[in-house]
Amino acid sequence: MVEKKKIILTVGARPNFMKMAPLYFELKKSNSFIPVIVHTGQHYDYEMSQTFFDDLEIPQPHYFLGVGSDSHAKQTAKTMIEFEEVLIREEPDLVVVFGDVNSTLASSLTAKKRDIPVAHIEAGLRSFDMSMPEEINRKLTDAISDMLFTPSQDGDENLAKEGIESNKIYFVGNIMIDSLVTILQKIDTSYEDKTLQKFGVQRKEYTLVTLHRPSNVDDKNKLQKILTFLNTLSTKISVIFPMHPRTKNSRDEFEINFNPNHGFRITAPLSYKEFIALEKNARFVLTDSGGIQEETTYLNIPCLTLRPNTERPITIKEGTNELANLENVNNKVNLILSDNWKGGKVPELWDGKTAERIVNILKYDSMM
Ligand code: UD1
Repeated sequence: MVEKKKIILTVGARPNFMKMAPLYFELKKSNSFIPVIVHTGQHYDYEMSQTFFDDLEIPQPHYFLGVGSDSHAKQTAKTMIEFEEVLIREEPDLVVVFGDVNSTLASSLTAKKRDIPVAHIEAGLRSFDMSMPEEINRKLTDAISDMLFTPSQDGDENLAKEGIESNKIYFVGNIMIDSLVTILQKIDTSYEDKTLQKFGVQRKEYTLVTLHRPSNVDDKNKLQKILTFLNTLSTKISVIFPMHPRTKNSRDEFEINFNPNHGFRITAPLSYKEFIALEKNARFVLTDSGGIQEETTYLNIPCLTLRPNTERPITIKEGTNELANLENVNNKVNLILSDNWKGGKVPELWDGKTAERIVNILKYDSMM
């Protein structure tokens, strides 16, 4: 009998969970691997973590490292110390890391230093903006990974330019779309109706907003301007704003007081299922998230990304996304509301089968 290979899947923050779930299930199905889930605890609130395990039907992590929030150095260091203990105990054949959060870099670095191969899912994305902590995490993780799974061809090109050998790079498509396809099957019209009713909105008559990037929410002046803009926007179209804890903390700390209009609804972070139901039926989405740029492209929903750059240019080139800033956002909103927005197409290999492709590669890779 061939011995099963042990693969640690490391997750830590909200956007990691929907990238890990499809791979976990595919590894289980293949019968050739033992997947072990390690949750670093970078995100720990129910709405930032457990609710995703519930909606995606992922089992509880085998290890929860309880690292929590802290400065970048402390969070990264604590993750490394705790994760090393897991590696010593489990002796995995491979560590898989996802995306670009601090847990991604911390766990890939720890594994590599113990001479354990690392696979990076969502490799090759670049914003070329080193003021973003995620860009640092992406570049360093890619530099030390043994297998780099890219969601789009621009990822392959970026990696080639950085001197990564082509035999380490695999264009497999976007794994987050696998989870999106699965959750869409669980969202029927009656669930959509119930969700829209809960938020007091009608199909295509509201905008969904998410903002949490330090560049948007860590500066009092900027956050004040953004909230004022959204409040004015809500006189034209209802605004639903599930507020990330970082944004909420900033708003409270800066004591930003404003009177939300009737159409401006600020809520706690939503579950995956509720969020996707709202995203699918929104007139447009305003965000600074990475994953939401991709989901809206898949769903063909207009998206305005309140950032000067994106590591996901394919969502602009082929999808429904455009960058925006506080100076031009009003014009762009008007284009959308007057139905003058570009149409998009679904990028290559964003088809719900990325996890399957990855597992097929893992099965036959000489490293495994
Ligand atoms: C992190 C990622 C970011 C990702 C985002 C998704 C890094 C560098 N950043 O940013 O790339 O887009 O997650 O959400 O890894 N907090 C809570 N409860 C939680 C988690 C956080 O209240 O469960 C609060 C804490 O005050 C914390 C702050 O949010 O200090 C920021 O959390 P952190 O994980 O440091 O970064 P995010 O802004 O969430």
